[in-house]
Amino acid sequence: MRLSIAAGVAIVLGAQGAAFAGGPSDDKLVIDGELEITTRTAAPEGHPLDELISGWHYRTEETRALEADSFQNPGMLYVERGEEIWNTVEGDAGKSCASCHGDGEEFLKGLGANYPKWNADAGKPYNIELQINACREANMGAEPYKFDDTDQKSLTTFIKHQSLGTPIEVDLSEGDMKAWWEKGKELYYTRTGQLNLACATCHEDYNGTYIRADHLSQGNVNGFPTYRLKQSAMVSLHNRFRGCIRDTRGAFPAAFSDDLMALEVYVTWRGTGLDVETPAVRQ
Ligand code: HEC
Ligand code: HEC
Repeated sequence: MRLSIAAGVAIVLGAQGAAFAGGPSDDKLVIDGELEITTRTAAPEGHPLDELISGWHYRTEETRALEADSFQNPGMLYVERGEEIWNTVEGDAGKSCASCHGDGEEFLKGLGANYPKWNADAGKPYNIELQINACREANMGAEPYKFDDTDQKSLTTFIKHQSLGTPIEVDLSEGDMKAWWEKGKELYYTRTGQLNLACATCHEDYNGTYIRADHLSQGNVNGFPTYRLKQSAMVSLHNRFRGCIRDTRGAFPAAFSDDLMALEVYVTWRGTGLDVETPAVRQ
């Protein structure tokens, strides 16, 4: 079994040996010389790895520097736009987010670090995007955002950014969160697609090695939404999940489907204790 996993990875791990340049960097991430971010931490109980490492450590020096300087971080433009949206009236009820929740920075402080979160009314976990859409529909009389609408990404980035430097902690004791975690774990270890790869193959067994020109990380989610240099745009978490699944040449589930929400619950838990970095900068 181990052998067939290795064979599958060998197909995509082109020049693995030649490109191998040691593990993740030993730098520290300090934003604007002021805010030190926890990018390495001991794994929680029951975690397959010993140490959790943010994807920041796997990027080049130039990319790491962009994230450490908020004036240079291109993701900060989305934060600004998100704040504008927070304060803008939209929909039949004539309200903005701020009409009910007040000052964004105050209301949202640390909140995003605890998402996804159980939503009793919906009977499922909600991420920030689903919560935004719920408030738009039920409380503003506005249309829900379409997946990956730029405004959806901007507002989500603004909300998550208010947890910059706050450790991730999802509450698995609420509602059926544990069952969603189990489902997500099962998906994480299930090999799919023509290449027969699981998330775990790349991000658990092979993190630290190179795949094409990309340094494989543990696949943590603490930087999302993330600014990707390759796309010159903000990338949402479900977009990233779908991209990774597509790379295995497997059928990829819809954004916010039960499968991807279960994965989000499980993969977020895998990063417990890492600080939120939003907006992270990645390749
Ligand atoms: C008419 C008032 C109203 C408006 C406008 C409104 N919300 Fe809400 N919001 C609520 C209420 C009530 C709750 C708690 C119950 C619920 O989940 O619906 C809530 C919950 C939330 C939460 C979850 C808080 C937590 O503790 O986890 C977030 C995040 C949020 N809203 C964001 C937004 C955003 C972003 C907007 C603008 C797009 C917005 N809200 C617009 C009333 C509003
Ligand atoms: C074929 C190998 C491969 C598989 C399988 C794979 N990924 Fe990835 N993934 C990558 C590469 C390459 C990157 C970009 C470099 C990095 O951060 O690892 C990446 C990045 C990520 C990131 C972003 C990390 C960051 O710090 O920005 C997340 C999250 C992620 N993957 C989750 C998953 C999940 C969940 C699955 C299973 C559904 C999965 N990946 C399957 C190769 C893979």
